[in-house]
Amino acid sequence: MRKSIILAMALLSGVALASEQHGLVVNTPPEGSVTREAGLQAWERIHAVVSHPRCANCHTDERNLPMWSGSEYADAQPHGMNVHAGESRIGSETLACQACHVTSKRPNTVPHAAPHAGMDWRLAPVEFVWFGVDGPAICAQIRDPERNGGRDGAGLVEHITHDAEEKGFITWGFNPGAGREPAPGGMQAHLEDMIRWVAADMPCPED
Ligand code: HEC
Ligand code: HEC
Repeated sequence: MRKSIILAMALLSGVALASEQHGLVVNTPPEGSVTREAGLQAWERIHAVVSHPRCANCHTDERNLPMWSGSEYADAQPHGMNVHAGESRIGSETLACQACHVTSKRPNTVPHAAPHAGMDWRLAPVEFVWFGVDGPAICAQIRDPERNGGRDGAGLVEHITHDAEEKGFITWGFNPGAGREPAPGGMQAHLEDMIRWVAADMPCPED
């Protein structure tokens, strides 16, 4: 049988396919098969991830300050050493994030060293603010293409698999190493929750 036919049959029968590029299993349920209730439950788990310090510390507001928060830090506080990301969100106005957070796919092993990932370290664009923002507001932002980098549901799912390929910030958040507490659930579970939430048409608690 031709490879493409096998692939089509696997997709139709709902068989999960693991990609060699990102190592994740992408299993898309048929449209309309996920209830609103199941979608809201998936959202609650997504919220626990995106509001976790490993994610929210970089998703901060227009003051352009990265945060040090979570069990690794005594109190939630702006990044030490007067680090300021500037409007560039990458510190180019003063001291670039890269000066300490080098770009590297190697594991993080040294406690309290500047963490690194396979993408150039920087704050998320200011529209993607999560630190100190409540769940319903984050939910409304993430599904709004005007404020999420122009992504539809498929784009949000693709963002996760792309991050896994690049060993980017989401991958780091679930596997920060160096004694840091990971975001809850793991990359595969987060991908599945995103797929479920999208299949349920991205419900938010306050709809
Ligand atoms: C002078 C070196 C230096 C520069 C420049 C720097 N950082 Fe850091 N950063 C660190 C160190 C060291 C840590 C780890 C501190 C610790 O764990 O005690 C850190 C930790 C962080 C954390 C917390 C990670 C976590 O959740 O545990 C974030 C977020 C962060 N930096 C973002 C940035 C951003 C964004 C920039 C650029 C605007 C930047 N940093 C520039 C040294 C630096
Ligand atoms: C080092 C800082 C940093 C960390 C840590 C980080 N992000 Fe981001 N995030 C970014 C940047 C920069 C972008 C913009 C790049 C893009 O849109 O592709 C972004 C964009 C996003 C987006 C797309 C925009 C949106 O709001 O819908 C999502 C979703 C996202 N991040 C999820 C996460 C999750 C989940 C975690 C934790 C597991 C995380 N990020 C941790 C910097 C970070």
